Amino acid sequence: MKFFIDTANVQAIREAHDRGMVDGVTTNPSLVAKEGRGFKEIVLEIASFVKGPISIEVVATDYEGMMREARDLNGWIDNAAIKIPMTWDGLKAVRKCADEGIKTNVTLCFSPNQALLAAKAGATFMSPFIGRLDDVGHVGMDIIPDIVQIYSNYGYKTEIIVASIRHPVHVYEAALAGAHIATIPPDVLDKMVKHPLTDVGIEKFLADYKKIPPAAEPKKHGR
Ligand code: E4P
Repeated sequence: MKFFIDTANVQAIREAHDRGMVDGVTTNPSLVAKEGRGFKEIVLEIASFVKGPISIEVVATDYEGMMREARDLNGWIDNAAIKIPMTWDGLKAVRKCADEGIKTNVTLCFSPNQALLAAKAGATFMSPFIGRLDDVGHVGMDIIPDIVQIYSNYGYKTEIIVASIRHPVHVYEAALAGAHIATIPPDVLDKMVKHPLTDVGIEKFLADYKKIPPAAEPKKHGR
């Protein structure tokens, strides 16, 4: 499974990258706004060390505006994936981007039918927002195995990025369902490594190590 990091915080991306956990990055306007720095400056800095796809979102809502932004954003870096919202104008832009060789990530997807439309339009990636479905009382993860099945039925090449991840169980279930990618916030990634039995085990091994008597000088044999 590929891990994308769901943040615009360069330091957090760098840490995850140094641990071998970064196959790509997803940003959105809300994540960028948290950083208090320029959008392009952040994207260029991320691209200086992340070689996988970096999602950059358009803010236009009409086809022409989306295409203008998509072409511009795509010129910023070599590994851009242009995030385009799930609307008819958005899907038209996705189709056009595919024709022009621009990678896309269809965002704000909440149903298997929307996922089907994204794949038909020629999206490179499609992001179902699991946590936001949970927030409104649906089990967000329920749509992931269905999307995996639909894409497999017809051999669509669009990759599923499970997004809006809130906790480690989301990642585990996304992996179990066979999603290609999970885009993981740094705090969730941190929680994934932790297990109380790991901590207890390390403490016990360290305590027992101190009980080992100092090594005797090895006896010399022969010669
Ligand atoms: C990533 O592509 C999405 O923009 C992000 O996962 C949304 O997460 P949120 O629902 O926590 O804002």
